[in-house]
Amino acid sequence: MTQSLALVAAEPELQAAAAELARQYQLSLTHQGDDFDLELTREGLQLRWLARPEYQPLTLDYTRGRQAWRQQLGGGKQEAVVRALGVAHGFRPRVLDATAGLGRDGLMLAHAGCNVWLLERHPAIHALLDQAVLHLQQHQQLHDKLNWAAQVEVLPRGSLLEHSDIPSRWLELDIDAVYLDPMFPEREKSAAVKKDMQILQHLVGPDLDADGLLPMALALAKHRVVVKRPVKAPFLAGQKPSSQVLSKKHRFDVYMKAPYPKA
Ligand SMILES: C[S@@+](CC[C@H](N)C(=O)[O-])C[C@H]1O[C@@H](n2cnc3c(N)ncnc32)[C@H](O)[C@@H]1O
Repeated sequence: MTQSLALVAAEPELQAAAAELARQYQLSLTHQGDDFDLELTREGLQLRWLARPEYQPLTLDYTRGRQAWRQQLGGGKQEAVVRALGVAHGFRPRVLDATAGLGRDGLMLAHAGCNVWLLERHPAIHALLDQAVLHLQQHQQLHDKLNWAAQVEVLPRGSLLEHSDIPSRWLELDIDAVYLDPMFPEREKSAAVKKDMQILQHLVGPDLDADGLLPMALALAKHRVVVKRPVKAPFLAGQKPSSQVLSKKHRFDVYMKAPYPKA
């Protein structure tokens, strides 16, 4: 599913800044259709689903609201994603989040002490993510509690699937664990899916090529690969994991290559 998207300015004074962002993230400034737009407002970027004006625009701000709360109070070792990555055992793995999306899981891992690289292939999601991390890191300079934000890096837009051999720049990151959370097709039917995830699903579509990610992730990770799936979904690439961590709605399939070094 390819949706058209343009980067637009909410007011004439922001047009030059919008043009600069469009250049930086290789986004179009004019609509080819009328599905979505990424609108630059004085508060930052927001993703609007033009056919569904009743949906709140999707904004990404890690410094306030639900996400900040989750990191300050709920975030930590008890989060299933953190346990699946093995952080609870004291070692702080260097993680590539290779399907970064809105960066929520990736930031949770950084908050738990991991160094995290975020890789996202969709240009508009990549722009939202990159700007939100930049904003968090600017905010961090004023707040000691946000020191963990320095451990996050958004990589240039891309995908593990764009390469038949892993590029040396990724090997140099010395990745302990790769985390995968591709869009699962059946999620679209669930009434429980949050509105911002629904916008994301409609923009990005199901990641039908997701099975190809597992062998690439296993080749890159030194110690383990973790795959997030809906509880009843089949294994990615039909491959049985070594172990699983369960949360209310998700299953984290853990593919072990080698144990972490003793912390
Ligand atoms: C379900 S979302 C991830 C949500 C994320 N875990 C979070 O916490 O916000 C899946 C994202 O992975 C991206 N994606 C899927 N396949 C990818 C690939 N091969 N390379 C890079 N990004 C990919 C999609 O564009 C989408 O933004």
